[in-house]
Amino acid sequence: MAAGRSKFSNKFGFIAAAAGSAVGLGNIWKFPFEVANGGGAAFVLMYLLFCFLLCFPVMVTEIAIGRKTQKNPVGAFTALGFPKWRFLGILGIIAGIFILSFYNVVAGWAFGYFVQLSLGNFDIGSQFGEYINNIGRVGAYAVVFMLATAYVVSRGISGGIEKASKILMPTLLGMIIILVFYSMTLPHAFEGIAYYLIPQFSEINFKVVYNALGQAFFSLSLGMGALITYGSYVSKKDNIISSSALITLSDAGIAFLAGLMMFPFVAYLSNGDMASVEGGPGFIFTILPGAFESIGPVVGRLVGALFFLLLAFAALTSTISLLEVPVTYAVDELKIERKYAVWFIALFIFMMGVPSLISSGDSYFFTNFITYIGNEKATSFIDFVQHVGSDTLLPLGGFLITIFTAFVWKKNNLNKEIETGYPGFKGTLIEKYIDFAISYLCPVVLGVIFLLTLLDRFFGVHMF
Ligand code: TRP
Repeated sequence: MAAGRSKFSNKFGFIAAAAGSAVGLGNIWKFPFEVANGGGAAFVLMYLLFCFLLCFPVMVTEIAIGRKTQKNPVGAFTALGFPKWRFLGILGIIAGIFILSFYNVVAGWAFGYFVQLSLGNFDIGSQFGEYINNIGRVGAYAVVFMLATAYVVSRGISGGIEKASKILMPTLLGMIIILVFYSMTLPHAFEGIAYYLIPQFSEINFKVVYNALGQAFFSLSLGMGALITYGSYVSKKDNIISSSALITLSDAGIAFLAGLMMFPFVAYLSNGDMASVEGGPGFIFTILPGAFESIGPVVGRLVGALFFLLLAFAALTSTISLLEVPVTYAVDELKIERKYAVWFIALFIFMMGVPSLISSGDSYFFTNFITYIGNEKATSFIDFVQHVGSDTLLPLGGFLITIFTAFVWKKNNLNKEIETGYPGFKGTLIEKYIDFAISYLCPVVLGVIFLLTLLDRFFGVHMF
């Protein structure tokens, strides 16, 4: 099997695809609203610390396991000789299915905004609530999005995923940078920046901590084997450390820039009243149309439409990676032909997303899906799926994979795999740090936060 396995065509192709998987709605849609949800700059700081100190080592282990075994996240554990750990791969696949089911819905919203802004409808910002409850319309966009994802995945690794990522990611980055400069010129921009960059440590509570951790994992596509899968297509010549560093840096960098673009806009539109800012899934969707309108009717419309188009593409390079995981599993382990696996799994996940689609008001049942112990307000289905799929299962996956690597597979095997593409690795500072991180730091911090998250979020037991 390994001999015939397709590969990314070069290191840049892999980094572009992995960064494409990382950069998506998580950076541009979710990150700003999580910042606004709680913590402001304190959240930003926690997020960055988690990305570089905790997630980077996890990323290295995921890619190394994938490349060593050339397998999907389930088969990888068998290939390493530890079939008992296959459950971890299964857990990842479940998390991925959860995540893709709601992600596809939001990606459909973004695509719909592209259409609306192309038509010059700047009022769509204030109509967001009604917009997402027009189920026929957003449902159709979600269908289009899942079809596009399935189409790219059905074309295989270097043909589809890689090509799309290489062109679109740099374009999106350029666009965000231009918008950052523009937003800085607006009245009240400074209040927005201050909110975003000057931490108020009194704002840190445990919720901020676990939201930042969940966000870091989600944003880097970690904790569910997506990077084991991508790693399985990476050439033995590549340097896993520098690739991981670049992926982490570009992902955290783009999230950071997205915030830098958003908060001056928020301050401008609220006349500098940052205290009233509230995060939520509608955050960028309600704010950006007004911001684009401020640019002017013609250019604003153009920029706005282009922005949401690129956002939809960024989401596409992420949905691709989410779908790729169960598909690689079905192809490798269940011996199903790729093209059948793709369409069947895509249909299944789409159906799982239907409750998310109607849980923003349309269906009373799914909008008020569950009330966690100790909470007064009910949580909607789409939020519930995110709480379970990304905030809980991803850090759990990260925790288990570091335990597996440090205590079961063993550190010297990890090192050997890294050295294949980076002969001087042994003895470097980074080698020592990764050793420390996967043996002590990650297991302890991720394990503790995971347990406390369960208690805090779902059972109403608050620590601080
Ligand atoms: N990282 C993507 C984003 O920020 C979402 C994503 C794609 C993802 N693949 C993943 C999240 C795998 C977790 C695991 O939008």
